[in-house]
Amino acid sequence: MARMSEPTPAEKPVRPRVLSGIQPTSDSFHFGNYLGALRQWVELQETHEPFFFIANMHALTLEQEPKKLRERTFVAAAQLMAMGIDPQRSAIFVQSHMPEHAELAWVLQCLTGFGEARRMTQFKDKSAKAGEGSSSVGLFTYPILQAADILLYRPAYVPVGEDQRQHLELTRDLAQRFNHRYKRAFRLPEPYILKETAKILDLQNPAIKMSKSNSSPGGIVEMLDDPKVSAKKVRSAVTDSGSEIRFDPETKPGISNLLTIYSALSGRSIEDLVTSYEGQGYGALKGDLADVVVDFVTPFRNRTLELLDDRAELERVLRAGAETAGAVARATLADVYDRVGFVGR
Ligand code: AMP
Ligand code: TRP
Repeated sequence: MARMSEPTPAEKPVRPRVLSGIQPTSDSFHFGNYLGALRQWVELQETHEPFFFIANMHALTLEQEPKKLRERTFVAAAQLMAMGIDPQRSAIFVQSHMPEHAELAWVLQCLTGFGEARRMTQFKDKSAKAGEGSSSVGLFTYPILQAADILLYRPAYVPVGEDQRQHLELTRDLAQRFNHRYKRAFRLPEPYILKETAKILDLQNPAIKMSKSNSSPGGIVEMLDDPKVSAKKVRSAVTDSGSEIRFDPETKPGISNLLTIYSALSGRSIEDLVTSYEGQGYGALKGDLADVVVDFVTPFRNRTLELLDDRAELERVLRAGAETAGAVARATLADVYDRVGFVGR
């Protein structure tokens, strides 16, 4: 029997790797992105070998204005750094700088069943808007490109929000299929999804998640918004009937969502918050959370704007990130090409 391939030196990490990506499809990240995923990126870079990228190829699956896409790529990079992703420690790069992602995606597409791709709920949701017939093939194959993004780097963990779980399951399935067929040892990546913050809800409609595509302006808190605007959104958040402050996502989704956000930003436990607001109304909690939000976003926003002022430095960071990531991606792809029987150049 053929032996499973060992990782090459470039592929073999000293510390377990962590990898994740985010699309540059809005002028600002929102609290769902930050609490659901990005905060974990910052934390994991301390203990893992981190690769973080801006998924501009994924962004193209829905129509984007070229000028905006370019600008938002820089805004995304600046935000990552402003929230604490340290380019000395983490490779921060742009997906389109890495031809290997699309190249591996092709190979994986040839291993993916049509029905398997069609089951992806994000595709169902996103294609429902334009209708499946008018949606791009790129939107359909999006999760396979995502699998390639991940498998190229052999990460142990992929920190994301709950909505990405299904894509990670597909990634694991494809890795296993490839391993079985071609005797390679793709590492099976684990989703890193924190239960508490896996799904931050819309402030105006706590029946849906906070999202750039479905939330109304009042329902989404943008990290780069004027802090006064964000404070107002928190104070006007829809709360539940009754007046008791209690953590119960089933019957009190609005107030439970605010408690989740409050706890994550302040580091105080939900129990502690519930106890300290005992006997007080929703207004007190919302007012205090509004202050916590302002204290959090104000320095973040200032730092992002500062970083955006030095484009040359941002470009340098992204080039260096591509350099680090490129060595790993090239090694993985070379091995994959060899295993599937492509002749060398
Ligand atoms: P996206 O904006 O779709 O590129 O998402 C970037 C990251 O944020 C992904 O890991 C998502 O899972 C995560 N995310 C987006 N919205 C939310 C939310 N409302 N709650 C928790 N995580 C989220
Ligand atoms: N699909 C992810 C999202 O919308 C972004 C993404 C692209 C990603 N490639 C990835 C996340 C690889 C983790 C790993 O949020």
